[in-house]
Amino acid sequence: MERIRAHTAPRTAIVWTVLERELAQRDGTQVIIDVGGGTGGFAVPLAEAGHRVTVVDASPDALATLTRRAADAGVADRIEAVQGDADQLADIVPAGSADLVLCHSVLEVVDSPADVLKAVAACLRPQGAASVLVANRAAAVLTRALSGHLTTAARLLEAPHGVVGERDTLLRRFDIDTAVGLLNAAGLSVEQIHGVRVVADLVPGALLDTEPGAHEALLAFELAASERSPYRDIASQVHLLARRQEV
Ligand SMILES: C[S@@+](CC[C@H](N)C(=O)[O-])C[C@H]1O[C@@H](n2cnc3c(N)ncnc32)[C@H](O)[C@@H]1O
Repeated sequence: MERIRAHTAPRTAIVWTVLERELAQRDGTQVIIDVGGGTGGFAVPLAEAGHRVTVVDASPDALATLTRRAADAGVADRIEAVQGDADQLADIVPAGSADLVLCHSVLEVVDSPADVLKAVAACLRPQGAASVLVANRAAAVLTRALSGHLTTAARLLEAPHGVVGERDTLLRRFDIDTAVGLLNAAGLSVEQIHGVRVVADLVPGALLDTEPGAHEALLAFELAASERSPYRDIASQVHLLARRQEV
């Protein structure tokens, strides 16, 4: 099994690090489901590393792009693109069949995160792992406050679903405790929590483009800060790796 290509993008490096460590625990090709996997930003590199990936996504356009990317990368035979709703996962993926399920940036927009996570758990083999990435309410509060939108920030502190205003593109954001509770309720035991994009969205782009070594320094900082409170807790997203318990 090949190693996953070096993942040096500061915005996703910690997620790839966690995934690579998880996949390295077993030999050979693993069966991966990517719920709401979109255009294949995760699926294609995972297939390139030798794994079999099924992407279940509601968007035909995203799946068309995924199919093109998979062909361009020479991994079309290891990626299956299935149009479907995350709610229907149990009808699409055989129960207990997956080694790893990715559910990245999807729980914010589905009708019922609890139902989707139950379906995720059901399609995992016992001891299989779920990789869940969610938007963090704390980051949204701080971003709004620091840009001077203090009334909105104050409302967001209290808003039951972590969203305010009609222009919000998400249905909900998560607090770390809420996300852990949802995973536990679905029969998934959380083993690792990391902050993703602790400062990557805040560092001026011009600095990264012009300052020698700035990209490498940001990458190193993101990796180091991702597992330490309180830095982890204010990251734009929270990544949770959870394991299906034996049944
Ligand atoms: C923000 S993108 C994330 C894509 C990918 N997971 C990633 O991290 O790069 C959200 C994806 O979820 C898909 N999606 C939204 N609602 C969905 C649903 N109810 N069922 C399945 N996919 C859905 C969208 O089509 C889109 O591709």
